[in-house]
Amino acid sequence: MSIQKTDFLVIGSGIAGLTYALKVADRFPDKKVLVLTKATADETNTKYAQGGIAVVNDLENDSFAKHIEDTLIAGDGLCNEKIVEIVVKEGPERVNEIIEWGARFDKEADGDFKRGKEGGHSESRILHHKDITGWEMERALISAVERQKNIEFVKHCFVVDILTQHHRGYLVTKSTPDIECYGVYVLNLNTNKIEKILAKTTLLATGGNGQVYRTTTNPAIATGDGVAMTYRAKGKIENMEFIQFHPTALYEPGVTGQAFLITEAVRGDGGILRNKHSEAFMEKYDERKDLAPRDIVARAIDSEMKRTGTEHVWLDCRHFDVEKFKEHFPNIYDKCLSIGIDIAKNMIPVSPAAHYSCGGIKTDERGRSSIRNLYACGECASTGLHGANRLASNSLLEAMVFAHRCSVDASETVNNISFREDLPDWNARGTSEPREMILITQSLKELQLVMSDYVGIVRNDVRLQRAIRRLDLLWEETEELYRSSVVSPQLLELRNMITVGYLIVKEAMFRKESRGLHYNTDYPEKSPLVQNIVL
Ligand code: FAD
Ligand code: SIN
Repeated sequence: MSIQKTDFLVIGSGIAGLTYALKVADRFPDKKVLVLTKATADETNTKYAQGGIAVVNDLENDSFAKHIEDTLIAGDGLCNEKIVEIVVKEGPERVNEIIEWGARFDKEADGDFKRGKEGGHSESRILHHKDITGWEMERALISAVERQKNIEFVKHCFVVDILTQHHRGYLVTKSTPDIECYGVYVLNLNTNKIEKILAKTTLLATGGNGQVYRTTTNPAIATGDGVAMTYRAKGKIENMEFIQFHPTALYEPGVTGQAFLITEAVRGDGGILRNKHSEAFMEKYDERKDLAPRDIVARAIDSEMKRTGTEHVWLDCRHFDVEKFKEHFPNIYDKCLSIGIDIAKNMIPVSPAAHYSCGGIKTDERGRSSIRNLYACGECASTGLHGANRLASNSLLEAMVFAHRCSVDASETVNNISFREDLPDWNARGTSEPREMILITQSLKELQLVMSDYVGIVRNDVRLQRAIRRLDLLWEETEELYRSSVVSPQLLELRNMITVGYLIVKEAMFRKESRGLHYNTDYPEKSPLVQNIVL
């Protein structure tokens, strides 16, 4: 890495980080922008997005008001209406920008966009690139970044912590006013050294946290690092209890970790969920049937699985025109075939999997976190858009709108900020190589089991109490290991995931009601007190 000081530091190379980097780099051609990612360039949640991006760009058949209304209904009373309006109305401009950068969305023969439909949407408004929309957007962004001369993009750099007054020897607590971010410590996996990077402005675009659960649609990078770092630095974190479980991950016995997604767009095109007895069950749960919002469909599947004692339900696509299915969903078609499922003859086994974190680092309408000069956008942020449940395909849109907003604010403030020079180098005194990796891998398994068994789709107070007790023990043991060991990505991720698990459970315990994605059988009703929970 050639840069140790930068005006613009970007952590994360998904849609949020790269959109922001392109914008600030374009605005300041004379300044260097540094983008860091802990993995390869494109290993991100973004790359796996399938269904597409929700946007109103056909005002004859759709309207901003309808998209706003759909988002508010899904969010179940907790969305910030101003933010919803901002995202929906600024969305089309941001989508046009990524098209200019080279992203291709599927079109009809007459040149108009093909628009898909997903759960909770009153109109067909999802732009997509077959069933690999995220891959296409990430590809376009990476090539645009490669063309931009003033962006340095360094892979395999694991950001450990953000630097604040705490590192200058001051006591920083949750009530310290004006906590400031001066940059980060980063474990450079190319050299195996921890480096200090000073930054005038820092953007966290570190994505989701699905790996906290045993089965998730998220790749291995999704360990909630940005949220954990911000919490350690005493920044505000909100609404972590709202973990979205995608109803239809492919069920493959024995496969843990990242599960293959069967996009909701398949149900948008007519796919029908059936239980063990081949009954189409969604009409029992919601009049919108298979296209009800995700929280409702995931709970319905969970209930059918428990009632019939099975580990999955079925997604029936046998009535589809196979050629049309292959054209819209080639990736899913191939994946199913590779494991012996011919969608024309066989139903697809599916079950819910952790998919999306609606909460995260609390930000304002300019993307500013509660820590000065620290921005957050994309899945790691809680902007107020999603409330208690995210509407399908709203997150790629949110990431782009807020990357833009963060870039505007950072551009306006960067020239008034000075580097802080009095920050110590990383201190590794007293640490040694951990003797046994199993101490880390076993704790990770325990964490994922606790979260899946006690803090899943359906919760209750006893389960949450059990979870917190077990997390406390894992926390103590991991902190001891952290203090005595030379750090590794595995140890850092474990530490971050325990923190994220703790935040999910704690915020779930504070919410004495059932709302959106948080369903607690001890409080099955909504509380009249409509509030966001912030830690
Ligand atoms: P990501 O794309 O996840 O990028 C995070 C980046 O941060 C990565 O580069 C990672 O390496 C880096 N990083 C993390 N921690 C560190 C660290 N400590 N140090 C350095 N780098 C770090 N949304 C939609 O709107 N439409 C869809 O169709 C859709 N489909 C989806 C399908 C799947 C299977 C999944 C998993 C998600 C889907 N989503 C969809 C959600 C959406 O893809 C994500 O919310 C969005 O892409 C997140 O983008 P991001 O830039 O915030 O984070
Ligand atoms: C999907 O394609 O079903 C995922 C869409 C999303 O998560 O928004």
